[in-house]
Amino acid sequence: MMKPRVLVLYYSQTGQMLDIVNNILSDVKDKVTIDYALIEPVKPYKLPWKPNEFFDVMPETVQLIPVELKPLPQEIKQQEYDLVIFGYTSWFVNPSLPISSFLQSKDAEILSGKNVITVIGCRNMWLHGQEVVKRYFKDLKANLVGNIVLTDSNPNLISVLTVIRWMFKGKKEASGMLPAAGIQEQDMKRASRFGMPIYRHLTENKLALLHKELLMLGAIHLKSGLIVLERRAITNFRKWSKFIRDKGGPGAPERLGRVVLFKRLLIVAIFILSPISSFTAFIQMQLQKRKLLSDREYFKSLDYEANRL
Ligand SMILES: Cc1cc2nc3c(=O)[nH]c(=O)nc-3n(C[C@H](O)[C@H](O)[C@H](O)COP(=O)(O)O)c2cc1C
Repeated sequence: MMKPRVLVLYYSQTGQMLDIVNNILSDVKDKVTIDYALIEPVKPYKLPWKPNEFFDVMPETVQLIPVELKPLPQEIKQQEYDLVIFGYTSWFVNPSLPISSFLQSKDAEILSGKNVITVIGCRNMWLHGQEVVKRYFKDLKANLVGNIVLTDSNPNLISVLTVIRWMFKGKKEASGMLPAAGIQEQDMKRASRFGMPIYRHLTENKLALLHKELLMLGAIHLKSGLIVLERRAITNFRKWSKFIRDKGGPGAPERLGRVVLFKRLLIVAIFILSPISSFTAFIQMQLQKRKLLSDREYFKSLDYEANRL
């Protein structure tokens, strides 16, 4: 029997995304042929980030305004794949800018008619990003057959601090009182449990049933509070992205003042308003319990309905 052919299509700045996918595939790597294709912006994003450059990518990320990408290699575009693993991260509650740029590019046709599993690796906010990805997949007629989400399991404020240290100083490892940034080592290792079920569903031609099994294996942990918080975040980011873009495009000196204002307010919102907004989110959750339960089922599923978030 010919080995199934799998394409890992991903963007990762630090390499964390590649680690995740390699862990997922670790038990099946001899059973399948794997090709890797990195989505690469023509102008790479450098780690560590300069803070103003980091916040300057928000408006275009939120408004899905693409950056230029290097084309995918010809040999990847000509190959037939049985399965694509699409690995991506969240930036400002959206797919990272290289990913949304790719999904709008001609090369995205590689996904048309293909079975695709999305693998998300982020701090903890992935819901709205996946809605955007699902919408592009629908247009591309890509067949979403599974979703696996790995997040930093530390408390929210701890993961904010460690992600700041990681992004702005390039330090991922534990230091002082703070743990290592990103997805915790044990969660990373345990991702290997998804490999065999994926292989089995692929070779037995029953990928339509895969996601149900992935969910039983705990592929998605979703707290209802996240739905409330992401709704708030996306509403604010949309307003700020317009306000900043009124002054110019990416990196324009005229918009720097507004970018810096956004940066400061976001930091205040996270560290000072966060306890208050967690409390009001809690109240909101009590009032909307039934709706949030149905929302939770929806966000764990592969269904797509416009404007759920
Ligand atoms: C510009 C930028 C914005 C980010 N915004 C978010 C976010 O809104 N929510 C979140 O959970 N993680 C956010 N992250 C963290 C990423 O999702 C991810 O965990 C980290 O960048 C490592 O991914 P990598 O595989 O690309 O290296 C952001 C990262 C960057 C660089």
